Amino acid sequence: MLTSTKELLETAQKHSYAIGAFNLYNLEGAKAVVNAAEAENSPAIIQILPHVLDYGGSALVALFLEAADSAKVPMSVHLDHCGDRSMIKTALEAGVTSVLADGSELSFQDNLAFTSEMTDLAHAKGATVEAEVGRISGTEDGMTVAQKEAKMTNPQQAKEFVAESGVDFLAVTIGNVHGKYHGEPQLDFDRLAKIRQQLQIPLVLHGASGLPAKMIRQSIELGICKFNVNTEVRKKYLQFWREYGRKESQIDLLDCQKAATAAMQEVIAEKIGLFGSAGKA
Ligand code: 13P
Repeated sequence: MLTSTKELLETAQKHSYAIGAFNLYNLEGAKAVVNAAEAENSPAIIQILPHVLDYGGSALVALFLEAADSAKVPMSVHLDHCGDRSMIKTALEAGVTSVLADGSELSFQDNLAFTSEMTDLAHAKGATVEAEVGRISGTEDGMTVAQKEAKMTNPQQAKEFVAESGVDFLAVTIGNVHGKYHGEPQLDFDRLAKIRQQLQIPLVLHGASGLPAKMIRQSIELGICKFNVNTEVRKKYLQFWREYGRKESQIDLLDCQKAATAAMQEVIAEKIGLFGSAGKA
């Protein structure tokens, strides 16, 4: 059933587990998350990125909302990384339950002004808002340690930002990156502990693909309630089509779609297990 993202995350926070938020592109993705969440009796979040929303339009949002609402477990639909006011407005009007008002490219003050405005807008529609303080990179390549640290969330600034903007959850930057980690991820858990000391709201960690189980557990202990996952599920889907699509004998498209769904479902179920949300619906 379609549920408020805030409610899902606050329940997770109270019971010390985290919820997987999966970036999806189509029906197979939606079915994979719903099937995995129902099989594991877990809450889950469907996420849509702005360029995917641009492509799929209101039909894709309607598909995700209906998939979440007809699921037997609590689910929400979240607009991920959006810095565009009119797109946030359109998504809220279409019924998404939360948005990441992403002003992380802006100065602290401009990010604060943008996020505050989007928070008022979302709250007026009964939706909730994630914000980003610090900036999550697309890759770790070519950055010095000082450059990496400059992008990380400053605990004191995070406290000020949350108090002034009224956001509902905060995405932290502690060395996490979107996409591939080169070698062992280096997460700054001392920083996360300091952020947690300053804030009571649920915390979010992006770039959960490739994080080892130990780091996921430690992150949850230090207040992470939502993990964003894209790369691992997307890679599995693409790998599936590369292998399966080559088989001359395979001509039934629906069979292929079902098998692609099952391939993604396996990855999603594994993440749900790691996040500790299985059995928590
Ligand atoms: P990954 O692609 O690294 O899983 O990160 C996804 C994400 O954080 C989306 O916001």
